[in-house]
Amino acid sequence: MKIGIGHAHGKIILIGEHSVVYSQPAIALPFKGVQVSVKVTPSEQMTVDCIYHQGLLEEAPSQLDNIKAVTLEVFKRLNKQQNFHIHIESTIPQERGMGSSAAVANATIAAIYDYYDETLDKQTQFELAQVAEAISHGDPSGLDALITVSDKPLYFVKGQEIDELDIEIKGYLIIGDTGEKGQTKLAVQALGQRKLENPQLINELIYGLGRLAYSLKELLKGNDLYTIGSILNKSQQYLSQMGISNSSLNNLITISNQSGSLGSKLTGGGWGGCMLALSDDLVLAQQIEEALLKNNARQTWVLAF
Ligand code: MEV
Repeated sequence: MKIGIGHAHGKIILIGEHSVVYSQPAIALPFKGVQVSVKVTPSEQMTVDCIYHQGLLEEAPSQLDNIKAVTLEVFKRLNKQQNFHIHIESTIPQERGMGSSAAVANATIAAIYDYYDETLDKQTQFELAQVAEAISHGDPSGLDALITVSDKPLYFVKGQEIDELDIEIKGYLIIGDTGEKGQTKLAVQALGQRKLENPQLINELIYGLGRLAYSLKELLKGNDLYTIGSILNKSQQYLSQMGISNSSLNNLITISNQSGSLGSKLTGGGWGGCMLALSDDLVLAQQIEEALLKNNARQTWVLAF
């Protein structure tokens, strides 16, 4: 039987979450330690099999609204229509700011194109993934749609040419999962509301985060991990002032800093989800990881730059 296969991976936003929605720069890294693969096979009805649902796609819970919408959009683009069984396997923790929704959408799009032996160019894939992301996130910057299929770190400004980054630093990122579902869509909406209520403060913070992302881009060409760490700390301060952090994230960030992290911040949509910490040394990175796990982190990962 003919099948179609698609893959995508997780992502870590190093800096610029939320401010990127307002056209400020952000830097994101592909995280291949967590992956999603989607297999599509012809079926009598449109069905899906994943952590959220096994059965008819139309009866799937709202977490799969993005997949319902994107499959329709793919068929429209390809001028084809048929029923598939969509089998989704993922090691990306859901709703933790690691790009799960964008990765699943990207892998599904790629799988259907693969089934029809159609060429999927980057722009088409991006436009299709954004259809799914608009449902998952409301007003997506496009960063998650791009980074979950990129092999390289990206410096991204909404609507501008995408910059692939060569990162030179020698260091380690420790990722800690609070175990709480992040709430990207609600956090993006809440920030929009705060911006209406207090435009001066929120605009200053958004612009400030953009400046930090810009400085970080330059610093990633060198190896000054102390300055990089201080930029990460500063960006966490701004995100906190914006109201994007919460007590579980703050707890893991404090533990990391007390355990020797050079800089720590939330990563992704916030209000739960994951945080990151920076270390110049693998043993220290492992110590930070242990401290996080002892203090309520659900899972941790260490990534080498
Ligand atoms: C979510 O991973 C990142 C946000 O900046 C939203 C977006 O970029 O669309 C919070």
